[in-house]
Amino acid sequence: MSVKRMGVVGSGIMGSGIAEVAAKAGIEVVLRSRSQTTADAMVAGLEKSLAKQVERGKLEAADRDAVLGRVRAVSDLDELADCDLVIESIVEDLATKKHLFSELDRIVKDGSILATNTSTLPVVEMAMETGRPELVCGVHFFNPAPMMPLVEVVRAITTSDETVAAARAFAETCGKNPVEVKDQAGFIVNALLFPYLNNAVKLLDSGVATREDIDAAMQGGCNFPMGPLALLDLVGLDTSLAILEALYAEFKDPNYAPAPLLRRMVSAERFGRKSGQGFFEYAKR
Ligand SMILES: NC(=O)c1ccc[n+]([C@@H]2O[C@H](COP(=O)([O-])OP(=O)(O)OC[C@H]3O[C@@H](n4cnc5c(N)ncnc54)[C@H](O)[C@@H]3O)[C@@H](O)[C@H]2O)c1
Repeated sequence: MSVKRMGVVGSGIMGSGIAEVAAKAGIEVVLRSRSQTTADAMVAGLEKSLAKQVERGKLEAADRDAVLGRVRAVSDLDELADCDLVIESIVEDLATKKHLFSELDRIVKDGSILATNTSTLPVVEMAMETGRPELVCGVHFFNPAPMMPLVEVVRAITTSDETVAAARAFAETCGKNPVEVKDQAGFIVNALLFPYLNNAVKLLDSGVATREDIDAAMQGGCNFPMGPLALLDLVGLDTSLAILEALYAEFKDPNYAPAPLLRRMVSAERFGRKSGQGFFEYAKR
């Protein structure tokens, strides 16, 4: 199955990135947000991002216009009916995602793939909300989606070989390197990454070093492009807390138990870059 038209549900960091990647790969994208204002704002953000690429000589002006011409912003879920693939990228909350999958199953034409960009949640539970569990899988992009080459294709125990093959082909069309992974919390990357990020928060809280020195140490000592606290701010502290909670719920490994400071930062609505404050301060988006 080849994807000519796809739907992206969710207008956050990841939804916008996935839409940009797919539209640049020549796929028609229907971008759905709960309000038309936010959906339009996403397209405005995309216009800005593409304009910068033209300025820097990374994109031709004609290509920018073609990319924008492939993106349509909507607020009505029914507009996704004709999509060959829909990827949801809404808040990392299982009940919310399950409800969305039951709605997508009712709306989207038979035979189309319904995928989740979840970082940790069980794909099978979303699949079982639909009448087409064999056509449901995870297609997990990384942040920022236009830059990061990896896509984890998540195979639930209900996912068919054809669906996995189509998801891999889609990722390749988008210029990404897919890896296949079993439907287990955290898949590959987050299962390995999050104990490290969580321990960085615990280290900060214990007063071992300043935020700047923790990040500088991991950049300079391990050659990581970003420090752990700046990376948490990029991912979003609310999303990071949800990821750790899902990992802890699955494995009961104390390394996954969210650091108390992380929980308190989320309670204080310090979500990282997207809210202007996390472990560091940012200009508000
Ligand atoms: N942030 C990352 O680094 C990253 C990386 C890979 C995957 N993900 C996954 O992508 C998904 C989205 O994450 P994000 O970082 O874009 O989050 P975000 O906070 O930037 O955006 C979340 C979006 O969900 C929408 N939303 C919230 N509640 C909703 C509801 N009840 N119904 C419908 N939509 C709702 C919000 O309006 C917003 O558009 C999550 O599943 C997350 O785990 C995140």
